[in-house]
Amino acid sequence: MSQHESGALWGGRFAEALHPLIHDFTNSLPFDRRLVRYDLVGSLAHARMLYEQDILSGEDSTAILTGLSDVLREIETGELVVGDVKGEDEDVHAWIERTLANRIGDPAGRVHTARSRNDQTSVALRLYTREALIALVGLTHDLAMVWLVQAESHVASWLPGYTHLQRGQPVSLAHHLLAHVWALVADARRLQQAHDEAGVSPLGAAALAGSSFPVDPARSAELLGFAAVFPNSIHAVADRDYVAQAAFAAALLMVHLSRWADEVVLWTSSEFGFARLSDTVSQGSSIMPQKKNPEAAELIRGKAGRTIGHVSGLLALMKGLPFAYNSDLQEDKEALFDALDTAGASLGAAAIVADGLEYRTDRMREALHGGMLAATELADYLVRRGTPFRTAHEQVGHAVREAESRGCELDALPLDTIMACCPAAADDVVHVLDPERAAPAHDSTGGPAPTRVEEQLESARAAVAQCRVWARDCEPPPIYVAHREGRLLEESIP
Ligand code: ARG
Repeated sequence: MSQHESGALWGGRFAEALHPLIHDFTNSLPFDRRLVRYDLVGSLAHARMLYEQDILSGEDSTAILTGLSDVLREIETGELVVGDVKGEDEDVHAWIERTLANRIGDPAGRVHTARSRNDQTSVALRLYTREALIALVGLTHDLAMVWLVQAESHVASWLPGYTHLQRGQPVSLAHHLLAHVWALVADARRLQQAHDEAGVSPLGAAALAGSSFPVDPARSAELLGFAAVFPNSIHAVADRDYVAQAAFAAALLMVHLSRWADEVVLWTSSEFGFARLSDTVSQGSSIMPQKKNPEAAELIRGKAGRTIGHVSGLLALMKGLPFAYNSDLQEDKEALFDALDTAGASLGAAAIVADGLEYRTDRMREALHGGMLAATELADYLVRRGTPFRTAHEQVGHAVREAESRGCELDALPLDTIMACCPAAADDVVHVLDPERAAPAHDSTGGPAPTRVEEQLESARAAVAQCRVWARDCEPPPIYVAHREGRLLEESIP
């Protein structure tokens, strides 16, 4: 078989064929096949730039652009599947080049002028990463909306807020759900930053030293919708910071989802009983007929682990790696793909699980009235009446001990007992002993008072809406639009 037929991208200097096990071991097609569309788009931009720069003839450019566009269209409709055209391709880039060569013959061999797979593969991965991050931002919006809508109807549903998983002070369910929303809003911002970070074009760096052809990297960057061009051809092909950053944004998002998922597991337990899971999102046990397990939530919590692992793996991959490209970098893909896939799948599942939660405000209220949640409020009351906070803390501690020994809450203690422990207390102390009456007074910034929570709801709605607007306004690469509209050879592509 000739080099051309087998699909090998090299071979001239080799007398013997590659060992089949080494071929399989080094082959990235099984996982980089998902880059096929992005690599085709990258090649369209490169070929168009070569044409505009008179590096390729009009005839060759027409054959190449038409051929690549046909392959892309067939891939998108499913008429053509990577691997359909059999050969011994070592990666998706080789598969595309051979597929094109089978269709248009010799001109296919000219697409690679002034380009190396080193810049090519990073172009495809950057395009892929950007699109995946846009989709993730859209999914963060959808999950945040579920929490926001629930928060809107629970501004005055009180429950204990926890520190050290011990009942601390009263908060509202809206206040609590908004805490998750804000974590997700920060995640969406990080995903957007990672998207922008990936928007630097390495195309034109070639293997590592650019080219002596009059290439125009700014033009190919423009055609691909990248905001910037590499400033250094060595860095361009060695850089995988955007991969680590995207994986990190996904991992931190998963860490946040895992905290929420753990809460779902706790809250739906008989011990907490703060929420019930709908049948559609819970699973049974093969032996214990009464069980209703929060398995989707458990898996979200569990899957966070692998995404953290991918960040470590990627950093370890880059550590000590000599500039510029090394084959080690081929290992970037599976880690990144899995981190992004896992985040996407978990966001989708989380939105369904969250939507399937029925909050048991009766149980939350019960918990609110057990656990001396008024203690801090009582100390603050004493401070307002002139007692130094440390002294007040000590006095309330005595009152708590007193209540504990009687097996009652602070508001069930006789007034004279409270006054004996806390000399500054007066008759109106009863107002601060009921957690439900005390909580709305916490109207400091970001606090649980309904007025404050209403403000938060408004700003959270705006922040969440921004995610949707951002995702919607991200434009596809101009060269891709030209492909869709059949204008690849038109005079100018904006
Ligand atoms: N499949 C490779 C990757 O994913 C292609 C990059 C260039 N390979 C090469 N031998 N120069 O990184």
